Amino acid sequence: MVSVSPWLLEDGVLHLNHGSFGATPASVLEAQERVRRRMEANPTRYFVGDEYQHELDTARRVVADFVGADEAGLVFVNNATTGVNAVMRSLEPSLAPGDEILITDHEYNACVNAAVVSAERTGAQVVTARAPFPLESSQEIVDAVLGAVTDRTRVLLIDAVTSATGLVMPVAELASALEPDVAVLVDAAHGPGMIDFDVSALGVSYVTANCHKWMCAAKGAALLWVREDRREGVYPPVISHGYNGGWPSSSSHFHAQFDWTGTQDPSPWLTVPDALDAVAAMHPDGWSGVRKAIRELCLTGREILLDALGIDPPAPEDMIGSIASVPVPPADHSGSEIFDPLMDALADKHNILVPVFAWPDPPERLLRISAHLYNEESHYRTLATALLAELSA
Ligand SMILES: Cc1ncc(COP(=O)(O)O)c(C=O)c1O
Repeated sequence: MVSVSPWLLEDGVLHLNHGSFGATPASVLEAQERVRRRMEANPTRYFVGDEYQHELDTARRVVADFVGADEAGLVFVNNATTGVNAVMRSLEPSLAPGDEILITDHEYNACVNAAVVSAERTGAQVVTARAPFPLESSQEIVDAVLGAVTDRTRVLLIDAVTSATGLVMPVAELASALEPDVAVLVDAAHGPGMIDFDVSALGVSYVTANCHKWMCAAKGAALLWVREDRREGVYPPVISHGYNGGWPSSSSHFHAQFDWTGTQDPSPWLTVPDALDAVAAMHPDGWSGVRKAIRELCLTGREILLDALGIDPPAPEDMIGSIASVPVPPADHSGSEIFDPLMDALADKHNILVPVFAWPDPPERLLRISAHLYNEESHYRTLATALLAELSA
């Protein structure tokens, strides 16, 4: 019998970059298509009747359960960038000149920009904690962040898992030191589906998380959760009917604000439960088995690369989920490309998709692997061979 892959990924290419855009099983896209057909059969009934709201509330319940959050505080947004923007824009009225928005130098550029714009509009300033990499323990991150806190710090924007450096950050430790005086906003673009992720245990004010990365939902699905005491005054970046009660089918003003931000295709949100079921069914132990398997594969992949490069681990295992970055020798160019030409060479000459980031600044750089259920150990061996060939070319 010919087995058919549940994934749609192109054959003949090594996909080692789940971290950037995720990958969605074919069955989820089929479920999405079914939603779209229901919507298109009678758009008026779908949106104005209770079909949309009912499906949205059902999806919200499932996602809230998956991430350990209360439904009342959870809304869908299109991506983590939107979630961070919603919180930053909503905080602006409470920011005064001289207040500080704290980030780390591992934060994702798009979300740094959201903080920068809020600072520009309010006279607040963005303060960047320099967090080490390589590092030996997460305590170094805690020390770097807490060392940058002042009595003007109002909010900490921190990743659950960093993008270029691939580190699981000590979010709960930081929150227990800072909250409630400093609001902690967690950018979990990488989080649920990759690491054990329990919103209620983090002790933070705000969490945004992508569903389209490690939960393998269709693109355009993410969540924003806001703790009850911070919910008042949190608005989406796009103001619509919910602001003055003009979206009455939602169960609260907070939900109404986000449940309708103008006409758009809601199918990525509504099929997150399909993605959760589809991926859980790929491992006998469901999601806990998936998380364990992909993390172990990532650690094996990292080991293979470290051996090939002859270097020590740049971060302890307990800070690794299913992405991991390793330093590669500096580039011989001094360009400031976000993606290094080595990435193009691996893609063009070897059909290997793996990001190489200039980090912390060119010419220094990091190569980041991802692991998901469609990857296997041999992929990282192939990468190691191609990498050594390119580095010696
Ligand atoms: C840490 C982090 N934050 C935010 C994002 C942005 O995610 P999105 O483009 O889905 O908004 C990414 C994307 O990789 C990320 O790694």
